[in-house]
Amino acid sequence: MNESLPIEQPEISRRQLLNFLTGATVAAAASSAVYPFAKYLTPPAEGDGSGAIVAKDKMGNVIPASQILSEPPGTRALIAGLAGEPTYLTVQPDNTLHSTGIVNNCTHLGCTFPWNGTAGEFQCPCHGSRYDERGSVLRGPANRPLKLVRVAVKDDRIWIAPWTDIDPRTGETPWWV
Ligand code: FES
Repeated sequence: MNESLPIEQPEISRRQLLNFLTGATVAAAASSAVYPFAKYLTPPAEGDGSGAIVAKDKMGNVIPASQILSEPPGTRALIAGLAGEPTYLTVQPDNTLHSTGIVNNCTHLGCTFPWNGTAGEFQCPCHGSRYDERGSVLRGPANRPLKLVRVAVKDDRIWIAPWTDIDPRTGETPWWV
């Protein structure tokens, strides 16, 4: 005797179908509105095409943000940034990292230079150019501001990304873009 169990066909009412379609539409609209905001808040991932990298020391070891943030406010810490360019990061009074990094590459002829904390200037030893704390030229022969990068911290890692927006010091498109 062949007693097979009846197979129930799932039924979906017109109301259920409409509810489903409406919900899917709302979810799609909400995600499209949230995505740009979430993307803005999320530090870029290395290799995501944005050009962002994790900050390292000159030996190629990742530098934890906590290591730099253990230094006193006002510290200018050098890390290996984009394309290995030495880049200054600034510890702020609230013990966070400034969101702007300054590339240690004199715009005159490319020398590297120290931060003079007493004078509050970057002072190039090669031909005497000086820059203020934001990298604007105080004295030539350099005639362009220092290159900027973006800085973000997530999970104790420091992310360095290219600066492609308007240069806040000049109000113009940056010379390096
Ligand atoms: S390379 Fe810096 S002043 Fe000439």
